[in-house]
Amino acid sequence: MTTLSTLNKFKKDGTKFTCLTCYDAMFARLMQQAEIDTILIGDSLGMVVQGHDSTLPVTIEDMTYHTANIARSNKQALILADLPFMSYATLNDAIANSRALMQAGAHVIKIEGGSELCEIVTTLTQAGTPTCVHLGLTPQSVNVFGGYKVQGRSEDSADELLADAKAVVEAGAALLVLECVPAKLAQTITQAVDVPVIGIGAGASTDGQVLVMHDMLGMVHGRVPRFVHDFLTDARNTEHSIEGAFALYRQSVREGSFPTAENQFD
Ligand code: KIV
Repeated sequence: MTTLSTLNKFKKDGTKFTCLTCYDAMFARLMQQAEIDTILIGDSLGMVVQGHDSTLPVTIEDMTYHTANIARSNKQALILADLPFMSYATLNDAIANSRALMQAGAHVIKIEGGSELCEIVTTLTQAGTPTCVHLGLTPQSVNVFGGYKVQGRSEDSADELLADAKAVVEAGAALLVLECVPAKLAQTITQAVDVPVIGIGAGASTDGQVLVMHDMLGMVHGRVPRFVHDFLTDARNTEHSIEGAFALYRQSVREGSFPTAENQFD
């Protein structure tokens, strides 16, 4: 079974690992067969499962329900679950809602933001709940950003992201997710912290990669982001199945052929 120790060892050894979002039992079983290392029950389910335009309408009850579905169906992957929008605005909310996710079967909870999360990270960690902090393009803040935009392109914002990453790790974060940041900055952050960093639209230097499952199966609603690759179409040359696509994704990340320069931002 994959644990945080496994991911720490992967980072030390330079072994690239995989993460995919997942929301239901059948896909969780296929991911187990394809040996996907970590699963994220992402609040992206607001878009790909519930049909919303953003992650904001997702509730803790939604997240708990989907987390329990996955935890019953995949006994190998490390299970990360998102605390949804405004469910960790206070320390008490963060504690109560993390408890709900952990009791549903999550191993790590993921929260979006920067150094303002330090107190939450320390408190949860001390209470037995490892945290993953999601930095860069944090979709719960889409209205603050004014759209889904690459983050950390100016010198100041890059410095701020690096400082945020160091601060949350210092506070106890066990993992980081970096979304849509320039590849060079992602490399700097990955080398600067001693916890595994998972990237999406952050280039090939992060320790692990994550994609939204529907995206990597070629089911994209609207414009295809440049960091997305359709592994189901690629799998037609080998085992043309969903499990084959998951296995190809794992192989591509492990051997370093995904992501390519075309999937990253400068
Ligand atoms: O909710 C989600 O799917 C995510 C990934 C994009 C990292 O947070």
